[in-house]
Amino acid sequence: MKILVIGATGTIGKAVYESLKKEYTTVYGAHRNSSSYPVDITDKNSIRELLEKLPKLDAIINAAGTASWKPLYDLTEEDYYIGIKSKLMGQVNLVNIAKEYLNDNGSITLTTGILAEHYEPGAVALSLVNGALHSFVNAASNELERNIRLNVVAPGAIAGDFPEDKKFAGYFPIPIDDAIAMYQKSLTENNTGQILKKY
Ligand SMILES: NC(=O)c1ccc[n+]([C@@H]2O[C@H](COP(=O)([O-])OP(=O)(O)OC[C@H]3O[C@@H](n4cnc5c(N)ncnc54)[C@H](OP(=O)(O)O)[C@@H]3O)[C@@H](O)[C@H]2O)c1
Repeated sequence: MKILVIGATGTIGKAVYESLKKEYTTVYGAHRNSSSYPVDITDKNSIRELLEKLPKLDAIINAAGTASWKPLYDLTEEDYYIGIKSKLMGQVNLVNIAKEYLNDNGSITLTTGILAEHYEPGAVALSLVNGALHSFVNAASNELERNIRLNVVAPGAIAGDFPEDKKFAGYFPIPIDDAIAMYQKSLTENNTGQILKKY
């Protein structure tokens, strides 16, 4: 199985990348500042360039994408567009492009988070894009051809990134291994249109 992990140096992406490397021989790790596999998901050409460079893949996992952290009253339209362009359309464009480059029966796994469903001060713009992505995966997964599967992993705050004794969006942080398990589930089980949550 040939797997691409985007965001492979981040809290989630690095853990997923390293865990998959133990199990599979061909795992590519990409991110903006990578010397081997640079990609910027906010740029369609950059996504296409990377996929052109790689052999046909069996799975793509994305753990990259951002949005503005600001209270509702401070959020400008431009602030919202940061998340729409990065975490939302970055992942939507990835699906649109990746569907041409994946092998039959391939899979795409996106990342959202607890904020799709639960409130955290200052995170309104992230909640917006996470919720939109859940609706996108729910619908788009039905129309992917060649048995290509599309799921999204929605973790709570990751322990280590956040103090373990403090709640984030009403829930205690989760161990990184619980997040990795959701990506594994999306990768290996015959599921599609799933929102894999752990908070
Ligand atoms: N950490 C958490 O507790 C947590 C919990 C739930 C959900 N999430 C979500 O999970 C995702 C990843 O979070 P994280 O905390 O692991 O992030 P992170 O530690 O900030 O790492 C982000 C990774 O993505 C890459 N990246 C950033 N922007 C990119 C872009 N435009 N194109 C390609 N690669 C890009 C970064 O490398 P370069 O800078 O080199 O590009 C890095 O490898 C985010 O959407 C976040 O909202 C995180």
